[in-house]
Amino acid sequence: MNKIIPYSRQSIDQDDIAAVVSVLESDYLTQGPAIAKFESAIAEYTGAKYCVVFSSGTAALHAAYFASGLGEGDEIITSPITFVATSNAALYLRAKPVFSDIEPDTANIDEGKIEEKITESTKILVPVHYAGHPADIVNIRALADKYGLTVIEDACHALGAKYKSGQPKNQTVDTRNNEWNRIGSCSHSDMTILSFHPVKHIATGEGGAVLTQNKHFYDRLLMFRSHGITKNRLDFIDSGNGDQGEWYYEMQLLGYNYRMTDIQAALGYSQLTKIKRFIEARRVIAAYYNNAFQDNPYFDIPIERDYGKSSYHLYTIQLKEHLAGKRASVFARLREEGLGVQVLYIPVYLQPYYQKLGYKAGLCPVAEGFYSRAISVPIYHGMTHGDRDEVVKRVLRVLEEADKS
Ligand SMILES: Cc1ncc(COP(=O)(O)O)c(C=O)c1O
Repeated sequence: MNKIIPYSRQSIDQDDIAAVVSVLESDYLTQGPAIAKFESAIAEYTGAKYCVVFSSGTAALHAAYFASGLGEGDEIITSPITFVATSNAALYLRAKPVFSDIEPDTANIDEGKIEEKITESTKILVPVHYAGHPADIVNIRALADKYGLTVIEDACHALGAKYKSGQPKNQTVDTRNNEWNRIGSCSHSDMTILSFHPVKHIATGEGGAVLTQNKHFYDRLLMFRSHGITKNRLDFIDSGNGDQGEWYYEMQLLGYNYRMTDIQAALGYSQLTKIKRFIEARRVIAAYYNNAFQDNPYFDIPIERDYGKSSYHLYTIQLKEHLAGKRASVFARLREEGLGVQVLYIPVYLQPYYQKLGYKAGLCPVAEGFYSRAISVPIYHGMTHGDRDEVVKRVLRVLEEADKS
């Protein structure tokens, strides 16, 4: 029996365990000091001014859309090659997700196709950095500015990724500054979303965050996270209640309980101290795969544009045309071989719930083509050299078999 190699998993060490235990022994399991400590550390790492952590990436998306004022009848434009949460969070606010097709190689939203989807109702552009490769946010920002739109990056795959702010993809010569920015710095967006699910770069069990440079969004995010309540006397509104005493707080909008616990935040902080190593490990594995798989006759490998450095949440291969019809059997054989392969993602609008809302197959042909040929193979920072060798061996063996059959 082959060793099972999952497509991703967390790496937890004794420091992480000690960090969690110390919270368990402290006075605060939630709403304590570990939250602000984790938030400051994420803000410092990414370069954002403000960070608000949430109980999940999905809650963070919901909060960011809310903070930007999204409401009934408004539209967001996003990629169909994402997890359903990206567009579901717009539905929570009775807004409409509009799906715009992707680039065939990075599987990121094709910024050249967004403009034709913009209507009077469009409020937010939501690029998703698929697999950890930055979408072309320089051009997306320019488009948003032209139409007065908000940009929210779904960077749930992309903690630790970098992009050159000065190099739009279709230009060979840099026209603006040429520095590497970290995803999350919000240099070209209004807010950025992270997830700390265990398959991601750092784990808190469940968890997420919104990053922003904007104080107005920050204040709304904080209130939305905790029932729409503020305890800050300076923010109280003149409602006729008067100033009743120290216990007094105000609920000013309809929020949720989307708080992260201190137990999770302490784990997140401890994990974040190792982020450099985690990202480097993923990039080394990707480079190893690129080398081992280059010019193979069975599938295409992920590319990296010269404006971006991927943090390789995923390593997704795309079967060549002549093997596309065998994707299901190849997938089944890879699972039999003990590889925890996944197909990421089914275009969101093909889900039955979205079909019932009126979305139709054929909406984004490039995304549907990508989906029909995609298989994500294992990549995670705790993989051993033996594991990655096994992945290469088993993938090539299965594909060779499929090619001959
Ligand atoms: C692109 C994307 N957006 C949003 C989410 C939602 O994050 P979470 O699982 O933390 O709620 C995920 C999680 O898989 C994701 O991959």
